[in-house]
Amino acid sequence: MKIQTLISNQAAIIRPLQSQTPSRNWSLSETKELLSSVWVQGFGLFDDETLIGICILRVIEDEVEILELAIDHIHRQKGFAQKLWNHIQGAHAKATFFLEVAEHNNPAIKFYEKIGFTQIHRRDNYYGAGKHALVYTIRPDRK
Ligand SMILES: CC(C)(COP(=O)(O)OP(=O)(O)OC[C@H]1O[C@@H](n2cnc3c(N)ncnc32)[C@H](O)[C@@H]1OP(=O)(O)O)[C@@H](O)C(=O)NCCC(=O)NCCS
Repeated sequence: MKIQTLISNQAAIIRPLQSQTPSRNWSLSETKELLSSVWVQGFGLFDDETLIGICILRVIEDEVEILELAIDHIHRQKGFAQKLWNHIQGAHAKATFFLEVAEHNNPAIKFYEKIGFTQIHRRDNYYGAGKHALVYTIRPDRK
Protein backbone atom coordinates (compact mmCIF):
# COMPACT_ATOMS: atom_id res chain seq x y z
CA MET A 1 0.00 0.00 0.00
CA LYS A 2 1.19 3.49 -0.73
CA ILE A 3 -0.35 6.93 -0.44
CA GLN A 4 0.37 9.45 -3.18
CA THR A 5 -0.77 12.92 -4.13
CA LEU A 6 -3.36 12.85 -6.89
CA ILE A 7 -2.96 15.19 -9.83
CA SER A 8 -5.42 16.41 -12.43
CA ASN A 9 -4.30 14.05 -15.19
CA GLN A 10 -5.36 11.12 -12.96
CA ALA A 11 -8.97 12.27 -13.10
CA ALA A 12 -10.03 9.24 -15.13
CA ILE A 13 -8.91 6.75 -12.46
CA ILE A 14 -10.39 8.87 -9.66
CA ARG A 15 -13.90 9.09 -11.06
CA PRO A 16 -14.93 5.46 -10.37
CA LEU A 17 -14.20 6.12 -6.69
CA GLN A 18 -15.93 9.49 -6.74
CA SER A 19 -19.00 7.72 -8.08
CA GLN A 20 -19.04 5.63 -4.86
CA THR A 21 -19.56 8.74 -2.73
CA PRO A 22 -22.96 10.25 -2.06
CA SER A 23 -21.92 13.58 -3.59
CA ARG A 24 -23.08 14.62 -7.02
CA ASN A 25 -21.49 13.11 -10.11
CA TRP A 26 -18.47 15.01 -11.30
CA SER A 27 -17.66 15.07 -15.01
CA LEU A 28 -14.13 14.25 -16.11
CA SER A 29 -13.39 17.90 -16.84
CA GLU A 30 -14.82 19.00 -13.48
CA THR A 31 -12.61 16.50 -11.66
CA LYS A 32 -9.58 17.72 -13.62
CA GLU A 33 -10.47 21.31 -12.84
CA LEU A 34 -11.00 20.50 -9.16
CA LEU A 35 -7.57 18.90 -8.85
CA SER A 36 -5.95 21.78 -10.72
CA SER A 37 -7.07 24.27 -8.10
CA VAL A 38 -4.34 25.68 -5.89
CA TRP A 39 -6.73 25.24 -2.94
CA VAL A 40 -7.34 21.54 -3.54
CA GLN A 41 -5.24 18.52 -2.61
CA GLY A 42 -6.00 14.94 -3.48
CA PHE A 43 -4.56 11.87 -1.80
CA GLY A 44 -4.83 8.38 -3.24
CA LEU A 45 -4.32 5.02 -1.55
CA PHE A 46 -2.83 2.54 -4.02
CA ASP A 47 -2.63 -1.23 -3.83
CA ASP A 48 0.26 -1.77 -6.26
CA GLU A 49 -0.91 0.43 -9.15
CA THR A 50 -4.62 0.18 -8.36
CA LEU A 51 -6.30 3.16 -6.76
CA ILE A 52 -8.49 1.86 -3.92
CA GLY A 53 -9.15 5.01 -1.90
CA ILE A 54 -9.33 8.76 -2.35
CA CYS A 55 -9.54 11.79 -0.14
CA ILE A 56 -9.91 15.25 -1.68
CA LEU A 57 -9.38 18.31 0.48
CA ARG A 58 -9.88 22.03 0.15
CA VAL A 59 -7.02 23.63 2.05
CA ILE A 60 -7.12 27.28 3.03
CA GLU A 61 -4.27 27.95 5.41
CA ASP A 62 -5.09 26.00 8.58
CA GLU A 63 -8.67 25.23 7.60
CA VAL A 64 -9.17 22.01 5.72
CA GLU A 65 -12.47 20.80 4.33
CA ILE A 66 -12.86 17.15 3.38
CA LEU A 67 -14.66 17.34 0.03
CA GLU A 68 -14.57 13.66 -0.86
CA LEU A 69 -13.58 10.48 0.92
CA ALA A 70 -14.14 7.02 -0.48
CA ILE A 71 -12.69 3.56 -0.23
CA ASP A 72 -13.56 1.15 -3.04
CA HIS A 73 -16.51 -0.92 -1.81
CA ILE A 74 -14.69 -4.25 -2.02
CA HIS A 75 -11.94 -2.92 0.26
CA ARG A 76 -14.08 -1.40 3.02
CA GLN A 77 -13.88 -2.16 6.73
CA LYS A 78 -10.23 -3.18 6.48
CA GLY A 79 -8.77 -0.03 8.03
CA PHE A 80 -7.92 1.73 4.76
CA ALA A 81 -9.83 4.97 5.46
CA GLN A 82 -8.10 5.07 8.84
CA LYS A 83 -4.75 4.65 7.07
CA LEU A 84 -5.54 7.51 4.67
CA TRP A 85 -6.67 9.70 7.56
CA ASN A 86 -3.48 9.02 9.54
CA HIS A 87 -1.48 10.24 6.56
CA ILE A 88 -3.64 13.32 5.99
CA GLN A 89 -3.66 14.47 9.58
CA GLY A 90 0.11 14.03 9.64
CA ALA A 91 0.32 16.30 6.59
CA HIS A 92 -1.98 18.90 8.22
CA ALA A 93 -1.15 18.52 11.88
CA LYS A 94 -2.10 22.10 12.78
CA ALA A 95 -5.30 22.27 10.78
CA THR A 96 -8.90 22.41 11.85
CA PHE A 97 -10.85 20.02 9.64
CA PHE A 98 -14.48 20.36 8.57
CA LEU A 99 -16.80 18.17 6.59
CA GLU A 100 -20.45 17.64 5.91
CA VAL A 101 -22.06 14.25 5.76
CA ALA A 102 -25.59 13.06 5.05
CA GLU A 103 -27.45 12.28 8.26
CA HIS A 104 -28.26 8.74 7.06
CA ASN A 105 -24.67 7.87 6.04
CA ASN A 106 -24.04 5.64 9.01
CA PRO A 107 -20.67 4.09 7.95
CA ALA A 108 -19.19 7.55 7.30
CA ILE A 109 -20.57 9.02 10.55
CA LYS A 110 -19.24 6.07 12.54
CA PHE A 111 -15.87 6.50 10.84
CA TYR A 112 -15.64 10.25 11.48
CA GLU A 113 -16.70 9.86 15.11
CA LYS A 114 -14.19 7.04 15.59
CA ILE A 115 -11.33 9.25 14.43
CA GLY A 116 -12.40 12.07 16.74
CA PHE A 117 -14.68 14.40 14.75
CA THR A 118 -17.55 16.02 16.63
CA GLN A 119 -20.80 17.31 15.23
CA ILE A 120 -21.19 21.10 15.38
CA HIS A 121 -24.15 21.82 13.16
CA ARG A 122 -27.02 20.35 11.22
CA ARG A 123 -28.24 21.73 7.87
CA ASP A 124 -31.86 20.78 7.39
CA ASN A 125 -32.87 19.75 3.86
CA TYR A 126 -29.35 20.49 2.61
CA TYR A 127 -29.39 17.60 0.11
CA GLY A 128 -33.09 17.99 -0.75
CA ALA A 129 -36.39 17.64 1.06
CA GLY A 130 -35.92 15.56 4.21
CA LYS A 131 -32.22 14.98 3.45
CA HIS A 132 -30.25 16.66 6.18
CA ALA A 133 -26.52 17.32 6.41
CA LEU A 134 -24.44 17.12 9.57
CA VAL A 135 -21.37 19.32 9.89
CA TYR A 136 -18.41 17.88 11.76
CA THR A 137 -15.10 19.30 12.87
CA ILE A 138 -11.86 18.24 14.49
CA ARG A 139 -9.38 20.72 15.89
CA PRO A 140 -5.59 20.69 16.09
CA ASP A 141 -5.56 19.93 19.82
CA ARG A 142 -7.10 16.57 18.99
CA LYS A 143 -4.06 14.55 20.05
C1 LIG B 1 -16.79 5.90 5.15
C2 LIG B 1 -15.71 5.03 4.49
C3 LIG B 1 -14.71 5.95 3.78
C4 LIG B 1 -14.98 4.22 5.57
O1 LIG B 1 -13.92 3.52 4.96
P1 LIG B 1 -13.33 2.13 5.53
O2 LIG B 1 -11.99 1.89 4.89
O3 LIG B 1 -14.35 1.05 5.35
O4 LIG B 1 -13.16 2.46 7.07
P2 LIG B 1 -12.12 1.75 8.08
O5 LIG B 1 -12.05 0.28 7.75
O6 LIG B 1 -10.84 2.50 8.10
O7 LIG B 1 -12.91 1.91 9.46
C5 LIG B 1 -12.39 2.61 10.57
C6 LIG B 1 -13.51 2.73 11.59
O8 LIG B 1 -14.64 3.41 11.01
C7 LIG B 1 -15.87 2.81 11.50
N1 LIG B 1 -16.60 2.21 10.36
C8 LIG B 1 -16.17 2.11 9.08
N2 LIG B 1 -17.12 1.53 8.32
C9 LIG B 1 -18.15 1.24 9.14
C10 LIG B 1 -19.42 0.62 8.96
N3 LIG B 1 -19.82 0.19 7.73
N4 LIG B 1 -20.25 0.51 10.01
C11 LIG B 1 -19.88 0.91 11.24
N5 LIG B 1 -18.66 1.51 11.50
C12 LIG B 1 -17.83 1.66 10.45
C13 LIG B 1 -15.47 1.76 12.52
O9 LIG B 1 -15.43 2.39 13.78
C14 LIG B 1 -14.06 1.41 12.07
O10 LIG B 1 -13.26 0.97 13.13
P3 LIG B 1 -13.26 -0.61 13.56
O11 LIG B 1 -12.89 -1.34 12.31
O12 LIG B 1 -12.22 -0.66 14.63
O13 LIG B 1 -14.64 -0.93 14.00
C15 LIG B 1 -16.34 4.03 3.48
O14 LIG B 1 -17.44 3.38 4.09
C16 LIG B 1 -16.80 4.63 2.18
O15 LIG B 1 -16.03 4.81 1.22
N6 LIG B 1 -18.11 4.98 2.09
C17 LIG B 1 -18.69 5.52 0.84
C18 LIG B 1 -18.27 6.94 0.58
C19 LIG B 1 -18.73 7.87 1.67
O16 LIG B 1 -19.85 7.79 2.17
N7 LIG B 1 -17.83 8.81 2.02
C20 LIG B 1 -18.10 9.81 3.03
C21 LIG B 1 -18.76 10.98 2.43
S1 LIG B 1 -18.90 12.28 3.60
